[in-house]
Parts: sequence; structure tokens; C-alpha cells
Amino acid sequence: MKKKLFLGSDHAGFQLKEDIKKFLDKLRIEHEDLGASSDEPSDYPDIAYELAKKVAAADSRGILMCGTGIGESIVANKVKGIRAANCFNEYTAQKSREHNNSNILCLGARVLSAEEAKTIVKAWLETDFSNEERHRRRLGKIEKIESKGFR
Ligand code: RB5
Repeated sequence: MKKKLFLGSDHAGFQLKEDIKKFLDKLRIEHEDLGASSDEPSDYPDIAYELAKKVAAADSRGILMCGTGIGESIVANKVKGIRAANCFNEYTAQKSREHNNSNILCLGARVLSAEEAKTIVKAWLETDFSNEERHRRRLGKIEKIESKGFR
């Protein structure tokens, strides 16, 4: 991971974000925390949208944390160029990179323990896109859908 990693959460993901920040420090991975800055209630669409735009603009990667990982993944995937994956174990984290070239990892702070989340983060950061033809073809189809939209 060469580029800066963006981190974001709502109130439900705030504590997990703090844990993940310490973990990333240990791994010496450069990161920027875009908020939330406390566990006071906040709306997940706001942070997910901000983070997703930054990831798309910088062609970087990010991690979003909310209660389930679901709401933020729905929002992030509305942003062009974003492939956000709500992962719940090491296997899904690896496959989301190898097969889907995910650029945002979503985590459910009310679903995962901090230790489980760290395992997922590590696997996601260490796994590259496979670049196999069938996966490139499928991602190309996603891009076409994205550019057409549905009217
Ligand atoms: C907040 O209560 C919760 O709805 C949010 O963190 C997230 O789980 C939404 O998908």
C-alpha cells in the first residue's frame, strides 16, 4: 500500500476506527482520519460520501466503519470508480481484492471484534488484485453499467 489510506466512521464505528488507527501505526501504514471524531451520533452517508470521493480522486484506498458496514458500503458504491466491499472475514477480504479489486473496505463494528477486524484489515491490505483476464472483464462490465446508469 503506497498511497495514503483514508479512514472514516460514524458514531458506531468510532471506537473501532481508533483501534484500527493504532494497528496501522504498528504496521507503519500512512493513514488519514476523516472522522467521526467522537461517538456522538452522526449520519453515515456524510462520511461515506466524503471518503469515497477522496479515494476516487486520489486513486487510493479507504476503510469505512459503521455498525454493520452496510450503510456506508451502499453510499460509497454510489460514487464513480468505487468498489466498496463489506467484508466479514479474512477470506472475503482477500477475494474482494483478488476478484473485485475493492478500493474501500467496510467493516461492521457491531458485528466484528477488534481482533477480527484487524485480521480482515491486514488481509485486505496485503492482497493484490489478481489481474486475471476474467476478473478484468467482469470489472469492465461493472464500469459499463456505472457509465450507463439505469433510466
Ligand atoms: C447506526 O445506528 C447504524 O445504523 C449505522 O452505524 C450503520 O450500521 C448503518 O448501516
